[in-house]
Amino acid sequence: MTDVGVGRPAVFDPFEDGFVDDPYDQYARLREGDPVHHSALLHGWVVTRFDDVNKLLRDRSVSSEITKATPNPLTIMELERLAERSRASETIVLLDDPDHARVRKLMSEPFRPSEIERLRQRVSDRIEGALDQLRAERGTGVIELDLVADFAYPLPVEIFSEMLGVPDEDHARFRYLSQQVAKTVDPVMSAAERDECMNALDEMHEYLTAQAAAKRAEPADDLMSELVHAADDDGVSFTDSELIAQLVTLYLAGHEPVASLLGAGTLALLRHPDQLAKVQADPSLIRNLVHELLRYDGPNHFMRRITTHPTVIGDVELPAGEVIYASPAAANRDPARWGDTADQVVVDRAEAHQHLQFGAGVHACLGSHLARLQAEIAFEALLTRLDDPQLAGTPSWDGRLFIRGLDSLPIRCSIRERAS
Ligand code: HEM
Repeated sequence: MTDVGVGRPAVFDPFEDGFVDDPYDQYARLREGDPVHHSALLHGWVVTRFDDVNKLLRDRSVSSEITKATPNPLTIMELERLAERSRASETIVLLDDPDHARVRKLMSEPFRPSEIERLRQRVSDRIEGALDQLRAERGTGVIELDLVADFAYPLPVEIFSEMLGVPDEDHARFRYLSQQVAKTVDPVMSAAERDECMNALDEMHEYLTAQAAAKRAEPADDLMSELVHAADDDGVSFTDSELIAQLVTLYLAGHEPVASLLGAGTLALLRHPDQLAKVQADPSLIRNLVHELLRYDGPNHFMRRITTHPTVIGDVELPAGEVIYASPAAANRDPARWGDTADQVVVDRAEAHQHLQFGAGVHACLGSHLARLQAEIAFEALLTRLDDPQLAGTPSWDGRLFIRGLDSLPIRCSIRERAS
């Protein structure tokens, strides 16, 4: 045993002092002291070691369907909400095979690496354009900006809205809606928050239903048209409600984590100036940098699974129907996997790409290439165009449990002109 978190218990407690700013100390205690930990708060098992999380995600016998859980207060609440809005339960994220495989196949084509690569120039234009605009508005001297509000947060939703074919004038509304809808992922929230989220979900459904109908009538060269017309070998397409559930999922799955990665990744680099200098000196490291930033402080903290038969995790045997919260964030800091430098950013870490931020197994992130493309272009732009970036205040974390990110990241810098 090391002296990690001496005197503090190995208990999952998101209300513990300091957890919002830095949950990793608590994760370390759990990994060492109780790696398959029963959480009374979550009514489930928090799993934190790399090997256990990795194995669980690849285990095809564990389920993503909440109906397979032995009822507990949280699952009952979620099932009640899903019953009120049954269409949400059709999301790919909550499906098991054979429905999962069918829906995933219909969605896969536009997310293949070669298809995503075709977006490079458009994504780059958006990102460089956002920096041009900040420079034009704030001036060419030293300025203060909030890297989250001014850059990281608006960009992914705009890029994805453009890819989907949502008109430019609706992007701002969509940013708000996807922010609200993304909160539905957290199991712990007040009734008022829940209502606001659900209203946003309704509005998003209505809007996307109308858009899908328009693309069905008049296809365009965009993702929505492609998904509306996607069909399997037997010519079977999505049902209407299935399609909308996937579109909402794409917003939800795509927006927040990319924004979080840009914010938390920038903070990590500012806190590791030697590593920042290293990647500035050698831009060929950017691809690896993105993996390493995902490993070090990626947005995904928990993924939920349900056991469908007695399942051994570490030293614990769980019966069927148990809810498991597997933590890629904790696994990605496990010294048993990453060695003594697990808690540091190492931009040229050889195996950084083996992190678990994109999940693993049949549900592994469908948008990982798109996410990485955006992050690579964004970090490259930030590294070349922000002159002498410094922290200009205290970063503020959003306090969310599942997809964690920064609410604000004040920095001071000047913005260089775009390279011609
Ligand atoms: C840094 C950014 C991202 C991270 C860290 C991330 C992470 C993840 C993870 C961990 C899962 C697996 C969830 C599970 O097993 O229960 C997942 C699934 C998914 N992600 Fe991402 N994601 C990111 C960006 C994106 C983007 C940009 C898109 C598309 C616009 C996307 C679309 C999806 C979809 C559709 C799934 C469901 C796949 C399935 O259930 O088969 N993600 N993502």
